[in-house]
Amino acid sequence: MYTQAMDTMAREAKGQVQAVKSAEEQAREAAFEARIDAGEFIEAKDWMPEHYRKTLVRQISQHAHSEIVGMLPEGNWVTRAPTLKRKAILLAKVQDEGGHGLYLYAAAETLGVSRDELLDALHSGRAKYSSIFNYPTLTWADIGVIGWLVDGAAIMNQVPLCRCSFGPYARAIVRVCKEESFHQRQGFDALNVMMTQGTPEQRAMVQDAVDRWWWPSLMMFGPPDGESVHGAQSARWGIKRISNDELRQKFVDATAEQAKVLGVTLPDPLLKWNAGRGHHDFGPIDWDEFWRVVGGHGPCNTERLAARVKAWDDGAWVRDAALAYAARQATREQAA
Ligand SMILES: [Fe+2]
Ligand SMILES: [Fe+2]
Repeated sequence: MYTQAMDTMAREAKGQVQAVKSAEEQAREAAFEARIDAGEFIEAKDWMPEHYRKTLVRQISQHAHSEIVGMLPEGNWVTRAPTLKRKAILLAKVQDEGGHGLYLYAAAETLGVSRDELLDALHSGRAKYSSIFNYPTLTWADIGVIGWLVDGAAIMNQVPLCRCSFGPYARAIVRVCKEESFHQRQGFDALNVMMTQGTPEQRAMVQDAVDRWWWPSLMMFGPPDGESVHGAQSARWGIKRISNDELRQKFVDATAEQAKVLGVTLPDPLLKWNAGRGHHDFGPIDWDEFWRVVGGHGPCNTERLAARVKAWDDGAWVRDAALAYAARQATREQAA
């Protein structure tokens, strides 16, 4: 009834209402842009353009989905970690990733979407998550390489987000980055132990894992700047402060040096220091593979999604019990 009445009013005085609205809208937008330019944080209750809100919902929820789907390839190795120490570290790391998902879902919820809606988009395949988690973890060395390269790339991507213009996202990311830094170091340490104290077979296992994960890690920064759909607007709004290609270059420069310390070879014959540019040159990325995996045809897409849907279905009784308990408490409080 209420919306219908509003519609009628708008139709009756259409020209007038819209003119007033658009002037108001323009003033709000100008004020919003000025706050962005001044480097202020935008908070959940502040006015924001609809496109800004939608961009953030998409980005934060994709990030949240990536954290919880990212638990799956590593969870696969919790029961097979080689020592008690490595098992404890891996358990803590996988648990951290679950926590990251929760902070981020909570940040997205401040923008007026429900967690049920977000998870439904993931389970129905409408929402994306980082394509890297559609690759399998074949050996224990993969766990070290995920920490070193995948968490390493995640840090590169996420540190600039600590200054993202949307306050709840920026604050969640500060904590996420502290934990990602531990994840990266534990991965490097696990590989370093295998490379310095391991058997020739273990060293070969590390090299094989590096060979398989290197290129997908570079793809984590997203398509080249020229093809990135959301890049320019996100940069304008202070959501993304450094471009995909710049971040990828920073990652290659840092990782090339770390690979030397580890004693592994990065699988790129064109990787070479370029003194003129002050950066490493590197070979072309297979973007067909990237789009194939993003499009649902990577090695583990079906398996990952099925695992998330099963976890959701298996958890139905917990949600039902929590709701029943909350309803009973509410009834008791009313009666008291
Ligand atoms: Fe994480
Ligand atoms: Fe992580």
